[in-house]
Amino acid sequence: MSTGEVAIRIRSVGHQFGEVGEARHIRALADTSLDIVRGELLCLIGPSGCGKSTLLNVIGGLLAPTSGTVEVAGKPVHGPMPHDIAYIFQENALFPWNTVDENVRLGMLFQGVPKAEHAARAQQSLQAVGLAEFADHYPAQLSGGMRQRASLARALSLQTGILLMDEPFGALDEQTRMILGEDLSVLLARTEKTIVFVTHSLGEAVFLADRVAVFSARPGTVKKIIRIDEPHPRNPAFVTSEKFTALRNELYALLHDEIRKAVGSDAPRGRRGANGGAP
Ligand SMILES: Nc1ncnc2c1ncn2[C@@H]1O[C@H](COP(=O)(O)OP(=O)(O)O)[C@@H](O)[C@H]1O
Ligand SMILES: [Mg+2]
Repeated sequence: MSTGEVAIRIRSVGHQFGEVGEARHIRALADTSLDIVRGELLCLIGPSGCGKSTLLNVIGGLLAPTSGTVEVAGKPVHGPMPHDIAYIFQENALFPWNTVDENVRLGMLFQGVPKAEHAARAQQSLQAVGLAEFADHYPAQLSGGMRQRASLARALSLQTGILLMDEPFGALDEQTRMILGEDLSVLLARTEKTIVFVTHSLGEAVFLADRVAVFSARPGTVKKIIRIDEPHPRNPAFVTSEKFTALRNELYALLHDEIRKAVGSDAPRGRRGANGGAP
């Protein structure tokens, strides 16, 4: 549910690792400006290595950009803002020797949530992701999809306005990813959260996003923004609609040339059909 108010203001952000002349010098991100609106889910897609995770780390205050500025809720970002921003990574960062419930509580402990609120918040967030029955299980007793649900519950329990998700379903099989996507869409419809979601999957981007920012090859910058005008929660039938296919194809065409640039070679002659050789 978007209000039109800017939650994350990114202005001319660039980042380079190392110094010019050093062997490890790399321009990861170039002159990126973007307004992320409160309550929207913005997907970032782009070739591998184009700076998506770098941008997420800059937004989260884990990395200071070498140029440009980021503001979250009107405040300049100079470091982590645990009360405003929660992270979810591809590799769930659950502690294996703690139960699901303990893992959720540890997140709140690190963020400084008053102890008296832990039990209720843990229960509520585990319920929201469908894991209430598994509160006392250990990560090793859960499937990959359930572990990512637990990571999501931990992030939700922090009650931040912003979630940064870096390929959160990237290690999961297609079916699990689809179900988690559907459930996330239902969750979204009920909250005011602003989500920045990095994904490799064009289908996932179209299914989840309110807008998709397509990044260019490194040094990455926003090449184009595609709006996905479809209310949340998204109906699973959306996936089989013509609208979905058309949007997915549009993203594919935009991304394809950038991936070629990133790989550093041209398509072999005669293999570049009208659909760019789409699978
Ligand atoms: N800590 C680092 N030191 C040096 N180079 C890095 C570091 N982190 C990322 N890079 C490089 O910066 C570029 C962008 O990385 P990243 O943001 O992780 O890309 P993406 O998430 O889009 O795949 C890549 O070439 C990567 O190798
Ligand atoms: Mg990445």
